[in-house]
Amino acid sequence: MKIIVEKDYEKMSSKAASLISEAIQKKPDLILGLATGSTPIGTYEELIRMHKEEGLDFSKVTTFNLDEYYGLSPEDDQSYRYFMENTLFKHINIEKENTYVPDGLAKDPNAYGKEYDEKIQKQGGIDIQILGIGRNGHIAFNEPDDELILSTHLTGLTKDTIDANSRFFDSIDKVPTKAITMGLGTIMKAKKIILLANGKNKTEIMGELLKQDKVTTNLPASLLLLHPDVTVIMDEEAAELYK
Ligand code: F6R
Repeated sequence: MKIIVEKDYEKMSSKAASLISEAIQKKPDLILGLATGSTPIGTYEELIRMHKEEGLDFSKVTTFNLDEYYGLSPEDDQSYRYFMENTLFKHINIEKENTYVPDGLAKDPNAYGKEYDEKIQKQGGIDIQILGIGRNGHIAFNEPDDELILSTHLTGLTKDTIDANSRFFDSIDKVPTKAITMGLGTIMKAKKIILLANGKNKTEIMGELLKQDKVTTNLPASLLLLHPDVTVIMDEEAAELYK
């Protein structure tokens, strides 16, 4: 694991965006894995700036998102498809048909998950996967558990995740309790992973993760310790317990 500590959120975001931009310049048809949530917003803003001011070209890029709330349509303003359209896609020159977000309305979500994974592999696999981390150590929506599922699948969300995500909803009872998420197998197949963490509410989990000398399904992010090419980019607040 390569660990980079940047002074603040802005610098963390610029660093992540510059790694993505360099990769797109080397491979214009990059397959990029994307996350939602608060953490990558600054990275997406910087990518938009690079597109507008420096001509960063997304016309051949393909993206696969990690997850989607189950039961929400793409038009729902709380869906991750909606988030991605408004936070990134509509501001850059990416082809809509090259952007994949799991379908929150899939009738048979587990069969759908297998198709999603096949689609990724057919495109040649994810070159760079961007990840955030939950306060409980989840990545995508792979929550701490006795077992972790490898393929993209339907999962329940833990109370901690529902609480954390309720900040985006009018009330906690509106937060979906299930999601379709890439599995650990899908994520671990990415050629390169960039894990982002910022702010005080990630200090504890990053401290715990970075002093692990074992992997455990109770801390799903610990599986990343087995991946050959992970770059962690944190701001100083998130890195406070990492010494
Ligand atoms: C989002 C996702 C989640 C988030 C995590 C952190 O697509 O897969 O694992 O990355 O919950 O969320 P934020 O960034 O809002 O703290």
